[in-house]
Amino acid sequence: MLSYDDNLRLKILAWFIHYPFYILWFIIKIFLNKKQNEWDNIQAPQFPRIIIITGASQGIGEGLVEYYLKNCSSCQIIIMISRSKEKLEIVKNRFNSDDQKKLMIYPCDVTDSDEMKRILLDIHRTYGQIDILFANAGLSYRQHALTNTFDKAVRDTFNININGVINTVMPLIEVKGVKQIALVSSQAAYAPFVSPIYGATKQCILSFGLDLRRLLAKDNIAVNIISPGPVLTPMLVGSYPRSVERGISIDKAVQIIFHGLRRNQAEIVFPAFTGVFMYTLSFLPLCIAEPVASYLMRGQ
Ligand SMILES: NC(=O)c1ccc[n+]([C@@H]2O[C@H](COP(=O)([O-])OP(=O)(O)OC[C@H]3O[C@@H](n4cnc5c(N)ncnc54)[C@H](OP(=O)(O)O)[C@@H]3O)[C@@H](O)[C@H]2O)c1
Repeated sequence: MLSYDDNLRLKILAWFIHYPFYILWFIIKIFLNKKQNEWDNIQAPQFPRIIIITGASQGIGEGLVEYYLKNCSSCQIIIMISRSKEKLEIVKNRFNSDDQKKLMIYPCDVTDSDEMKRILLDIHRTYGQIDILFANAGLSYRQHALTNTFDKAVRDTFNININGVINTVMPLIEVKGVKQIALVSSQAAYAPFVSPIYGATKQCILSFGLDLRRLLAKDNIAVNIISPGPVLTPMLVGSYPRSVERGISIDKAVQIIFHGLRRNQAEIVFPAFTGVFMYTLSFLPLCIAEPVASYLMRGQ
């Protein structure tokens, strides 16, 4: 019996039938559909006062704390969430020199839905409406699998990268207590076969984010998806050498995020080179894209 998956000729045929239409649709969208939707016209907070960042104890989250502290004069309160109280305190002590701005720490595991809800509603009651909520905490399956069983590595990756994001955003959505939500996905979402388990979780966040953006427009809440390629954070340690070579600095990454959020950009994608590459891979038939990806990831 002919199996779609095993048959190279069918895959190539499918590619010739489907993808020209996708590409055409993409071009039409760029030229005709720009800023036409109500969710694209929502005004993102230009002078954010209160910001919540999960995964703030290192990497991109820590970079965001520093950037908003130093470059956003309106910003008064930054609330940092991650599991390790010690790491959060180190970040707090490093930056908290200005009396006008407060850094608050809330140690919590984003997978603990009850505790996240309690903390987020408590913050909302105490400080009022949140200007920007970053659902940034995430886990690299590849790194986690080095020291854990297959079962644990898979479950933790799905739990933190998907349920953790849901636990972060839903409590404040329910009380309409937030003006802008930034979900951190990844360019791995475009071509999940490059990093299948991690990529699947980030594809889910991309999809969830795009739907939230549409659904929450009626409440005037802006939702943005952040899709980084390699950024030189602790997460990249032990990653593919080519990713590390192409990695951009945390400073550069958070600067791009800051400006993209102010413009209410639907998806903030950087660095451009890896973004275009991953996007192109996603348009190729798997029988070509997979060997290209494994060639590039060779030696691992
Ligand atoms: N770096 C990259 O190249 C890259 C590329 C694409 C996408 N991303 C995405 O960007 C986000 C940040 O990545 P990063 O590179 O900054 O990673 P990182 O350096 O490994 O930092 C991850 C942060 O998340 C926190 N975290 C992990 N699990 C948590 C949990 N269960 N509950 C609460 N906090 C948790 C960690 O703190 P604790 O350990 O204290 O909990 C840490 O602060 C992630 O979503 C990642 O997938 C990164």
